[in-house]
Amino acid sequence: MRAREPSTPRGQEAVAATLEVRPMVLADLEDVMDLERLAFKHPWSTELFRRELLHDWSTILLATGKKPSFPKIYGFVIYWMVHDEIHILNLASHPKLRRQGIARRLMAEALERGRARGATLTTPEVRRSNFPALSLYRALGYRQVGIRPNYYVDEGEDAVVMVLDL
Ligand SMILES: CC(C)(COP(=O)(O)OP(=O)(O)OC[C@H]1O[C@@H](n2cnc3c(N)ncnc32)[C@H](O)[C@@H]1OP(=O)(O)O)[C@@H](O)C(=O)NCCC(=O)NCCS
Repeated sequence: MRAREPSTPRGQEAVAATLEVRPMVLADLEDVMDLERLAFKHPWSTELFRRELLHDWSTILLATGKKPSFPKIYGFVIYWMVHDEIHILNLASHPKLRRQGIARRLMAEALERGRARGATLTTPEVRRSNFPALSLYRALGYRQVGIRPNYYVDEGEDAVVMVLDL
């Protein structure tokens, strides 16, 4: 009888194991914009990202990896520290690398950094139709606390307000 072959790691473990998370710098701008345009129907402008980099209260964290012939930026999260709140403005992972733990890792890192600066809660806003994002936040323990009607001006879509106490 053949000996049992060692089990192959799932893609998720392989990607998550090689991820690095670091703050974005200006030199990342074009690569981040490539991902922003892939991830969102209504992407932010380059200028908006450039401005975020200048604000003391804003942080952009990048998840990077080293898969051959693949863009090096796998995901990002943008958040503001406002008093004791981590307000999540934007979060994305590469469409070809979804469900591999990238957003989970970025959110864990954002919360850890926010906690170290005294945050006691975190609040993302999510389009009502964004099932993957709503599922992600629910899986991370966030609760829904309200709806902001017609919050997204592009399509007049409602925002679901969620909260996690830290
Ligand atoms: C939402 C988004 C950031 C999730 O990123 P991701 O890297 O695929 O998320 P993760 O792999 O870390 O998922 C963690 C958990 O979230 C939940 N989840 C994420 N995507 C899901 C989906 N499509 N369906 C159901 N659950 C989902 C699952 O519980 C998942 O855990 P599991 O894979 O072990 O079941 C990604 O889909 C994305 O970039 N979407 C486009 C941009 C966007 O809408 N951003 C959100 C703005 S608020």
